[in-house]
Amino acid sequence: MGACFGYSHALGGLAGSHAEYIRVPFADHGSFPVPDGLDDDLAAVFASDAGPTGWMGADLGGVGPGDVVAVWGAGGVGQVAARASVLLGAERVIVIDRIPERLRQAREYMGVETLDYTGTDVGAELRERTGGRGPDVCIEAVGMEAHSPGPEYAYDQIKQQLRLQSDRPTALREAIYACRKGGSVFCLGVFAGVVDKFPLGAMMNKGLTFRGAQQHGQRYIPALLDRIAGGDLPTRHLATHPMTLDEGPRGYEMFKRKQDGCVRPVFQF
Ligand SMILES: NC(=O)c1ccc[n+]([C@@H]2O[C@H](COP(=O)([O-])OP(=O)(O)OC[C@H]3O[C@@H](n4cnc5c(N)ncnc54)[C@H](O)[C@@H]3O)[C@@H](O)[C@H]2O)c1
Repeated sequence: MGACFGYSHALGGLAGSHAEYIRVPFADHGSFPVPDGLDDDLAAVFASDAGPTGWMGADLGGVGPGDVVAVWGAGGVGQVAARASVLLGAERVIVIDRIPERLRQAREYMGVETLDYTGTDVGAELRERTGGRGPDVCIEAVGMEAHSPGPEYAYDQIKQQLRLQSDRPTALREAIYACRKGGSVFCLGVFAGVVDKFPLGAMMNKGLTFRGAQQHGQRYIPALLDRIAGGDLPTRHLATHPMTLDEGPRGYEMFKRKQDGCVRPVFQF
């Protein structure tokens, strides 16, 4: 794997990047000029994280013209994956989450359908919306701290607390079960270790293609900066809470608890 700031020695041993100054190794390779015409830093900053991550999910997930795409998670990553799917020609894109303001953002800014997973059987609803077939491409943008209103949430929480599994793969399981036969599942959410009840049988027997990755920034950032500048890819709305670095702990708390409509705190100097 490549290196990430603040991802321990598992990924390069680089310290975190939350500081007034940081040393950027290979800066000639890892820094990109923001194009003229993109003068809003709060929009441009998403070309560095949620942007390439979401775009990669749609691109390497194989989204193409006419596809139906389902995206689990309406955070910054999921919203960009949804918009990327639209721009790559998907016919229908459905974003799944429980947080009303995030689902509203997905509809208003990314131009996609939404589905609230609370009180809904997500698999049944996706079959209903796809003529009984299931989505062609399923993109998981939730990660190891997934929630669920069902009993599997207690099961996963207990196994995680007892260190019998490291991550809660609730949304990933749902994506594998929902995907149409021969379809593609892409895992953007970060997982650290081992998970339980991974539906290997469904994956194998339906002939699914399953992929995941840490985002390939260098591959996507220049094109994404152009798309953000050109208005194809709205990102400014994701920066719900600009603040100073001193307010970092409050920002992280709000992000973790999804308080006050927080999608992303962005630290500015
Ligand atoms: N692969 C990469 O390179 C890369 C890069 C950046 C972020 N990530 C990861 O992508 C994931 C998403 O990032 P983010 O910043 O958008 O996070 P986020 O926390 O803002 O969004 C996650 C969303 O998932 C929703 N969610 C929880 N359980 C769900 C379920 N069962 N079904 C549907 N939605 C559910 C939450 O309500 C939340 O809105 C995280 O795991 C993050 O670590 C990966």
